[in-house]
Amino acid sequence: MLKDIPFQFSGLQYHVRFEAILTSILGGPALTYASGLAAFHAVLVLLNSRRIAIGEGYHGCNGVISMVSRMTGLKNLPLDCDAAELQPGDIIHVETPLNPTREAIDLQYYADKAHKMRAFLIVDATFGPPPLQNPFDFGADIVLHSGTKYFGEQSDMLCGILAAKPQHDFLMKLYSDRVYLGSVAGNTESWLGTCMSLRTLELRVIRQSATATALVSWFHSQLHDPSTAVHELAQEVHHASLQTEAKEDGSCKLRLFQHATSLGGVESLMEWRAMTNTSIDQRLVRLSIGVEALEDLARDLQQD
Ligand SMILES: Cc1ncc(COP(=O)(O)O)c(C=O)c1O
Repeated sequence: MLKDIPFQFSGLQYHVRFEAILTSILGGPALTYASGLAAFHAVLVLLNSRRIAIGEGYHGCNGVISMVSRMTGLKNLPLDCDAAELQPGDIIHVETPLNPTREAIDLQYYADKAHKMRAFLIVDATFGPPPLQNPFDFGADIVLHSGTKYFGEQSDMLCGILAAKPQHDFLMKLYSDRVYLGSVAGNTESWLGTCMSLRTLELRVIRQSATATALVSWFHSQLHDPSTAVHELAQEVHHASLQTEAKEDGSCKLRLFQHATSLGGVESLMEWRAMTNTSIDQRLVRLSIGVEALEDLARDLQQD
């Protein structure tokens, strides 16, 4: 009985409520984890596959894959490997939109490829949270989110989320694995998620996405105008709405955009990825659009 739970354990209610709301938002039974990578680790342990086909995307996932492969011999295949290289129980892992360049990936294509071989499609949808996309509509078996990003509101949550296609029987196994490992999202995070962030998720994401798309379109038009700073500094713009690649000079003179590797919060952020990943083009700067006014963000970028 809930009324019998001692006060010090009442955080459990938030945990259960957080997952119940996420289940409804994501369209499949959902569990929360201590971080996005803890959630990714949980799915690799659950499926215990021999091969994982993976392309570009968040480098941390490759770190977890190499950890797991030390124990199980899990092998990496390129995302565009021949379907015949996959066997039943293997994984295709797709991130969409891609981190950091934000191109959108054709999920149905990879779902068909995986299912033809009785493999699974995992979709890391961190950069496209609800209500922007529902990967289950395009054949995903498991959807992963770093809740640290858009699900958090004030960049104050560390959390990972897994949602499984309702037809799969994954939840109880994931749940019992999580009991042993204790990799569950913290009570404070569950409270923040339930009482704060999820309440504004739709508002924030729609606003952030609309502003980002307008900013991308403004950037793109400035690229072709030789009188602009954008033309001088940038060569291309990356965004799913353009499906092109961007390069720009990482200026430290910005006042609204703070340099940070996170994303999805209410403040706009920029990340010069070459600082932490030397293999990335030095000219690439990733922007995460918050809820500030479009004109203010544009002025900051123009240094007016
Ligand atoms: C696309 C993507 N997936 C997963 C992660 C890992 O999430 P976390 O930092 O919550 O472990 C990140 C983190 O930046 C990410 O960008």
